[in-house]
Amino acid sequence: MPDNRILRSLLTDAAERGIAYREDGVQRHVAPSEDAVRAVEGFVEPMPVDASDEAEVLSMLDELGSPATMMMTGPRYFGFVIGGSLPVTVATNWLTTAWDQNVGMHEVTPATSTLERVAMGWMMELFGLPADCAASFVTGATVANFTALAAARNRIYANIGWNVEADGLIGAPAVTVIVSEETHPTVFKSLGLLGFGRNRVVRAAVDEQGRIDVSRFPEIDGPTIICTQAGNVNTGAFDPVGEICALAKPKGAWVHVDGAFGLWAAASPDRAHLCSGFADADSWATDAHKWLNVPYDSGIAFVRDTAALKSAMAITAEYLMTDTEFRNPSDFTPELSRRARGVDVWAALKSLGRKGVAEMIDGCCSNARRFAKGLSVAGFEVLNDVVLNQVLVSFGDVATNRNVINEVQEEGTCWCGVTVWQNKPAMRISVCNWSTTEEDVDRSLEAIIAIADRLVT
Ligand SMILES: Cc1ncc(COP(=O)(O)O)c(C=O)c1O
Repeated sequence: MPDNRILRSLLTDAAERGIAYREDGVQRHVAPSEDAVRAVEGFVEPMPVDASDEAEVLSMLDELGSPATMMMTGPRYFGFVIGGSLPVTVATNWLTTAWDQNVGMHEVTPATSTLERVAMGWMMELFGLPADCAASFVTGATVANFTALAAARNRIYANIGWNVEADGLIGAPAVTVIVSEETHPTVFKSLGLLGFGRNRVVRAAVDEQGRIDVSRFPEIDGPTIICTQAGNVNTGAFDPVGEICALAKPKGAWVHVDGAFGLWAAASPDRAHLCSGFADADSWATDAHKWLNVPYDSGIAFVRDTAALKSAMAITAEYLMTDTEFRNPSDFTPELSRRARGVDVWAALKSLGRKGVAEMIDGCCSNARRFAKGLSVAGFEVLNDVVLNQVLVSFGDVATNRNVINEVQEEGTCWCGVTVWQNKPAMRISVCNWSTTEEDVDRSLEAIIAIADRLVT
């Protein structure tokens, strides 16, 4: 019989430590101190032979681990494209973890499987996608791209009479994959995993913002998969997906949209124009752990052709309850067993509502513009049109740019990353966190500009 006193005391202790981490974190340096990073070596020890006290395990995790974390959940973390997990999603995530459901099959996990079905319908509505799409709840946009492109591969090969599931790719007819010069590296990884090869692609030319230039789009000839993008990871720019679909559809090509963060623009009436024509595509990938601000790991693939997705993902076995009238989540994902990550998405959408999601997206975009304006006024060159939440600012040559970014990261008011945009070194600011305020932007601007004024000659 489990001792409920231990359960209660451990979970209460974890909750209290988690709350303290989030409350105190707002004040602390965004990056961990060198001492804290050195101290995590304290975890490195031989595999213990004897049991340890469970409360001490938790306290060791908190005491050594918490100070060595990057404050990614905080309002002044602007690295990569990282959301900050809304409090309600942390709370529902904890409860879902306590449930510990394996959401592969509906009949044994009716609550979590139903919540995922609801969340998927709401997202399709928000993004304006066809209501009969299938959706997969996966770990992130990388796997969402992989999942959607697996469906694309099955359909395009089926169209030319080749059963790629059964017969594989060795000896298969050639399929052309068109990407752009700005396609995200994770799409190339997916293409590699799917046997298409990372390099056997045709690259569409892009303009100065990284958007596919339709006037120079490659000829579509024969079985083809086209990978487009909603939200360039540097500039935030959108490919003209509607125009590309108009070229692709008459030729029977499959159009995929990597909308890891950009697809969320469709949820804001003020930015939905950026996604105009996107509903004509065949598949879409997005992340909830970025702009919807739910905890990791949470990505979603949407696929119009349900049969193609199921043909790539579903399995059958006597002991699995696959013969059911219900939607079995594992029919749509690479994994069979997995956590019920769709519950976090449901919680975010239920608590924010359509208006709240739009406000969160718009707030980040407006803070990104505030950054761009502040930096321009201070005399620094902003390299992109700030159409979304990404800002690229140049501080000069590679060394100067690197020095400014290093100091910004060390100073600790905020954290921004390094990039190169069309051969120019730059600092990249991504505003993706629900809790970032105008004051956070102004504080960060003050810190960045003070450092850059000193280092840029
Ligand atoms: C456009 C784009 N695609 C895919 C990804 C990969 O997303 P994830 O790290 O969630 O797998 C990213 C990450 O930033 C991205 O910006």
